Amino acid sequence: MLSRLDLQKMKHNKQKISMITAYDYPSAKVVEEADVDMILVGDSLGMVVLGYASTVQVTVDDMVHHAKAVKRGAPDTFMVVDMPFMSYHISLEDSLANAQKIFQQTDAQAIKIEGASTEALLLTERLSEAGIPVVAHLGLTPQSVHVLGGYKVQGNDSEAAEKLLQDAKAIAERGAIALVLECVPKELASIITNALTIPTIGIGAGINCDGQVLVYHDILQYGVSRVPKFVKTYADYNSTGIEGIRSYVSEVRQESFPKDEHSFTIKNADFLPTD
Ligand code: KIV
Ligand code: NA
Repeated sequence: MLSRLDLQKMKHNKQKISMITAYDYPSAKVVEEADVDMILVGDSLGMVVLGYASTVQVTVDDMVHHAKAVKRGAPDTFMVVDMPFMSYHISLEDSLANAQKIFQQTDAQAIKIEGASTEALLLTERLSEAGIPVVAHLGLTPQSVHVLGGYKVQGNDSEAAEKLLQDAKAIAERGAIALVLECVPKELASIITNALTIPTIGIGAGINCDGQVLVYHDILQYGVSRVPKFVKTYADYNSTGIEGIRSYVSEVRQESFPKDEHSFTIKNADFLPTD
């Protein structure tokens, strides 16, 4: 498994970091088999796995439940787990307890929090001191979608761009081990990447980030119908899945499944009950 220092080294050596989300045992197995560098158990699971309209319904218990399954499927891959909506805003004590629960119970390598508010900065410092590595997340932070007013590109004017750069520096200073940058113009992502010693992992943030992250279901077109502009789809599970299941349904109806090769036969017919 990669360590925090390996990630640092990859940035230094300009070796790109690949990250993808996973949410359960089979997706984790597939991702580890495909040799990805890091797994994110994202709170995007609320949308792509649980069918909610946003990530704000996801709970700490949801994250723990899913991340434990991911760990069983990908025991040898660096796993980052999202802290969900409002699980790190009520009080520092509650935030620390929630982070501890997620980190300890799931055997994660790091937790991820959104934003660079005063609370987020303090929490990052306290968790880092306590030995819980923190991945930061800036730009479009989906847990704040109702405040941001939609899923939109961030850091588009000079004031917002400057704030994003300062936030990135501040969260890195407090000990964050990596920074996810979501929906940021590629020129700005590039400046932030150059300004930091920790790796940036982009999603809709252009080629110059130190790594890239995408959502499993988006990459594979698995249960999603529309994907954002920044997604590239590499497979079409929806089509192959529907095709496969249609064939099964039709073979059941036509009695061409199961065949003898899928059936058991009895050796001694004398054992059969008589009716
Ligand atoms: O929850 C998630 O999948 C994420 C990524 C989009 C970065 O936070
Ligand atoms: Na997330």
